[in-house]
Amino acid sequence: MKTKALYTGSFDPLTNGHMNIIQRAAKLYDELTIGIIVNPSKKSMFSLEQRKNMIRETMKDLDNVKVDCFSGLLASYVNNNGFNVVVRGLRATMDFEYEIQMAQMNARLFNERVETVFLMTAPKYSFISSSMIKEVHSLGGCIDGLVPDTILQNMKALSEQEEI
Ligand code: COA
Repeated sequence: MKTKALYTGSFDPLTNGHMNIIQRAAKLYDELTIGIIVNPSKKSMFSLEQRKNMIRETMKDLDNVKVDCFSGLLASYVNNNGFNVVVRGLRATMDFEYEIQMAQMNARLFNERVETVFLMTAPKYSFISSSMIKEVHSLGGCIDGLVPDTILQNMKALSEQEEI
């Protein structure tokens, strides 16, 4: 059976912590889709279209990785698009409670053949979150090495525009 995996999140912005999970998941599954979702409870820095373009550019060397956007219920997107794995990254114990709740609710909603699979985030990225990256950057702190180059360039360009 072909394994079609989904890695989802807001990715505002995509970080090297996310990249680490993506590179590892891309080796485990035949096909990996990065599903960018609009989370209405989060104020976004980049539009969905900007995120999609930047992530596509960043993934250009990973042959089995696709990028898509969706809204609404994760389980509906998963069931309607024939995914059999949903990949989640765990950074620390703080992620665990939220993730287990979500995985158990999703297990009720997913088709029978779908499993949530957790990968532990590499320790060197376990302290990163997209919000922290945005905050540090907006206050002039260095985020080199924490986000892919394409993302860093776009964040710098955005702050320059905002200064004008
Ligand atoms: N490296 C770095 N950062 C990471 C990371 C990693 N490996 N893994 C997670 N993060 C960060 C993210 O950047 C994000 O940071 P932020 O809160 O500062 O933006 C934070 O951890 C949370 O990430 P995540 O759990 O992926 O949240 P999200 O908002 O990006 O996505 C969904 C959450 C999409 C999984 C969830 O909201 C969802 O399923 N929504 C659809 C609606 C639905 O079906 N609801 C019912 C669910 S049972």
